Amino acid sequence: MAVDIKSPQEIARMRVAGRLAAEVLDYIASHVKPGVTTGELDRLCHDYIFNVQSAIPAPLNYAPPGYQPFPNSICTSVNHVVCHGVPGDKKLRPGDIINIDITVVKDGYHGDTSRMFYAGQPSIQARRLCEVTYQCLWRGIEAVRPGAYLGDVGHVIQTHAEQHGYSVVREFCGHGIGKKFHEEPQVLHYGRPGAGLKLEPGMTFTIEPMINAGRPDVRQLADGWTVVTKDHSLSAQWEHTVLVTRTGCEVLTLSAGAPPRPALDS
Ligand code: MF3
Ligand code: CO
Ligand code: CO
Repeated sequence: MAVDIKSPQEIARMRVAGRLAAEVLDYIASHVKPGVTTGELDRLCHDYIFNVQSAIPAPLNYAPPGYQPFPNSICTSVNHVVCHGVPGDKKLRPGDIINIDITVVKDGYHGDTSRMFYAGQPSIQARRLCEVTYQCLWRGIEAVRPGAYLGDVGHVIQTHAEQHGYSVVREFCGHGIGKKFHEEPQVLHYGRPGAGLKLEPGMTFTIEPMINAGRPDVRQLADGWTVVTKDHSLSAQWEHTVLVTRTGCEVLTLSAGAPPRPALDS
């Protein structure tokens, strides 16, 4: 079960795919407001990826083993939806929080990134969950360097989430990425220092913690995709695609509109 090491030419292509995925989030940000439907956000992103970026939205018809083809081009996960929310005709309401998850394929390589957005003003609790989850992502990113272990990454994420009284979703994880949307390794968002895969330069994978305000348990809806918290508590997620470099880590899914690296002392 070997983890793919990307060549310099592959890394160059992944930088492009990663930036394009992030730029879709930049583009859609101003459209996220009360009254818009997740289906409209999907259509806007689809057209931007296809017509402006000349790229392919990877989720469209994506069908891993045991799943029906995903019917849309992006995932939109609102409030207690943990991940894989299927866009539809429900309008966003004031105070909703929404994760928009974009994966594009460009020149055969994938870039995968997601952010949280607010429709209007979120509650203090909802904003805090989104902010702490963003800190979890970046604590994970900062644990990435050659010689570190994936368990180190999971451990810092879990510790930070639980310090704030939140829980880490166990059923879904980050993943290796490249020519394939999902490849080895699995990147758990919990764990023990020193456990799991030892990182080497040229590895590319996502970190995408799903953090719940309540219990960690999740349930899949009858559509075969949408994942929600069992206790209906709010859930947040942020995702970057990263490259292990000789000296540390390069985030491949940055763009002009990406929120800055947060202060990590809180
Ligand atoms: N983008 C998601 C991830 O981060 C996967 C979505 S699969 C889909 O891995 F089919 F729902 F799009
Ligand atoms: Co991903
Ligand atoms: Co994603």
